[in-house]
Amino acid sequence: MQQKSTHKNTIETKFTQDSTLDLIHLYTEFVSVVIDCNKAQPVIIYFGDAISPDAALDEMLMLSTRQEAKCSLSEEVPISLTPTRGSGFTGNPGVQLSGAPNAWSVSPTLASVAREGNHAVTFISTDPIRHITLHHSLILCPDTHILAASTALINQSDESVNVLDLSSLTIPLPLGMDTLMSFEGRWSMEFQTRTIDLFLGAFVRENRKGKTSHDNFPGVIVHEKATRENDGECYGFHLGWSGNHRTRVELLPERRTYVQMGELLSQDEMHLAPGDSYTTPTLYVSYSASGFNRMSRQFHNYIRQHILSDRIVSTPRPVHYNTWEGIYFDHDVELLKHFADVMAELGAERFVLDDGWFKGRRHEKAGLGDWQVDSNIYPEGLSPLIQHVINNGMQFGIWFEPEMVNPDSDLYHKHPDWVLHCEGTPQLGFRHQYVLDLSRSEVTENLYSQIATILQEYPDISYIKWDMNRDINHTGSADGQSVIHAQTKAVYALIARLKAAFPGLDIESCSSGGARIDLGILSCTDRFWTSDSNDALDRLWIQRGCSYFFPLLITGTHIGPRDCHITGRKLSMQTRIATSLFGSMGMEMNPTELDDNDKKLLISGLKFYKAHRDLIHNGDYYRYDTDDESIDFAIIDPNKSSALFSHHSIIESRRTMPKVLKFIGLDPKARYTVEKVWPEVLDEYSPSVIQMADGQTFSAELLMKHGMQLPILMPQTSIVFKLTKQG
Ligand code: GLA
Repeated sequence: MQQKSTHKNTIETKFTQDSTLDLIHLYTEFVSVVIDCNKAQPVIIYFGDAISPDAALDEMLMLSTRQEAKCSLSEEVPISLTPTRGSGFTGNPGVQLSGAPNAWSVSPTLASVAREGNHAVTFISTDPIRHITLHHSLILCPDTHILAASTALINQSDESVNVLDLSSLTIPLPLGMDTLMSFEGRWSMEFQTRTIDLFLGAFVRENRKGKTSHDNFPGVIVHEKATRENDGECYGFHLGWSGNHRTRVELLPERRTYVQMGELLSQDEMHLAPGDSYTTPTLYVSYSASGFNRMSRQFHNYIRQHILSDRIVSTPRPVHYNTWEGIYFDHDVELLKHFADVMAELGAERFVLDDGWFKGRRHEKAGLGDWQVDSNIYPEGLSPLIQHVINNGMQFGIWFEPEMVNPDSDLYHKHPDWVLHCEGTPQLGFRHQYVLDLSRSEVTENLYSQIATILQEYPDISYIKWDMNRDINHTGSADGQSVIHAQTKAVYALIARLKAAFPGLDIESCSSGGARIDLGILSCTDRFWTSDSNDALDRLWIQRGCSYFFPLLITGTHIGPRDCHITGRKLSMQTRIATSLFGSMGMEMNPTELDDNDKKLLISGLKFYKAHRDLIHNGDYYRYDTDDESIDFAIIDPNKSSALFSHHSIIESRRTMPKVLKFIGLDPKARYTVEKVWPEVLDEYSPSVIQMADGQTFSAELLMKHGMQLPILMPQTSIVFKLTKQG
């Protein structure tokens, strides 16, 4: 499992050797995974709705008996956890090696099984000819129903082998899973969903950006065509990895479908000397028999319970003020102190000094790599500003982009050879910066020491926004080896080392917005900067897409400037606040643009957020199916005592009346008071149910089965209701 020492560990496992097992049944209240150990290699023969523990599982084998199909193998090669070319599998092999003449056909067979109760199993398979061993580890979390799986390959031969590919796992899916939802995007438009019908052949997503990427999020949902938010079967897959990766969903001619995800290695980066091993990133799978919402809530619960630290989950996430869209590179101590005064008055709890504070950084062409406070801008260092922020009752955070260097920097002048490169090819321009080679220990030592020096000098810095603003196009180290795997591991290790040395330090993962959002980086960080777009309308879609995998607790959502800097769109303060409420809230604008009415709204919006953030961050999240006219969702307290329902009108309705909102997730036997809680004043077209019903109590059964007529809203207007259980 990719867990860092500063974070909670996954489920404790005490394995016992048991070689007599034929069928392994991992199960929870809602999910079963049955693995057949009768074959040469372990094979998932069932993954789906929970099967009773005492079911005669071997009947499944009988029920799978098939005829010999025309012009086919008499017996189909199973889709094992790691299907191999050596076994004759004609889909994509789960392992590919080179180095020895026989390496292509490596095909380890099952040697032993170690299981822990009904929730964890490890399979050890060996290839006595090629001397390669595979360890498959599968853990089905009993509380959250998430399957977490990884594979390790050990070279036990006397020769080096080259791992070209090793999937984290290959998972066959049952018939009927004929549709997939993929996640694509670009800078400032992350997590856009696209639904695709499966076709004969493979849907393949490959990411070679050297980071998780905006365009190819390592996640996919495979489902029945009819699956919706609250009904139907689906499987969500996410690879916890921040480097290159591949997703493959393939339909084979005989109707079998499988999903395969793993790190995308370059041809020469994973040489294993005798005795060496390679462990894949963890693949996380969430199965739901009742729609996408359950699938997402299982991911959310898993992340809160097994990835984030207790401290992050149990302490209220502070409201941020971030300086970036307020001043960009124009840092000025007195102005920033003034910003801190205004923001504290509005209710901010953490002040984050973004890009532009360090040596020579007056624009994006210089300074990266020189992590010393710029004495021209901060003649007395950062202390006067930090102290001012602290005196205002806020925490202080600061921006770093440690993996990068500008050619115009002291670091680059001293160590021009420290950058990743490609021999014989000039560096490619990308925000005037190159990528440092973190696979070299002298580079990570230098970065550790520069960052630690700042943190030691300013012990009040309790937060780092850790950015990464270019793709890694040239991936070569000094010895010519491609090193994206080592680079990714080194980033994790550097962050973990800083967190261990500075307990209580929170770190946000940012990469030009949301290009490094995944459970690999989250295992050592605490918050995501979801997107550089602070356009509240675009954000609704981005946040909706992100919510398929990640809980609102960790997704940064800021109220942006009046005129959005990215789209130029002007949205009301009420709407900007309504969008930012549903995440880890913050503000990011020049406060001098705020008029008295904006400030009044911000004060009450932040107050509302603080009163409800525990519910927003830890409640059960439900999306509504969308017709593109509105985006609607609910957050319900797990004990169903209170709930927020949020309706965001996006475009002018095609009908004369908006929809009737059927509430969901309530206790059907209870009565709930319905209150409109945001915005405080709603400009209504004519008196609606809101004025009639506000503060009234209704039966939950009727609220859910009959629903409530929504008012006619102007496009780009939001309305939030609070439901409180009575009695
Ligand atoms: C990236 C981040 C922004 C900001 C800038 C600073 O684009 O996503 O939020 O920090 O870098 O250069």
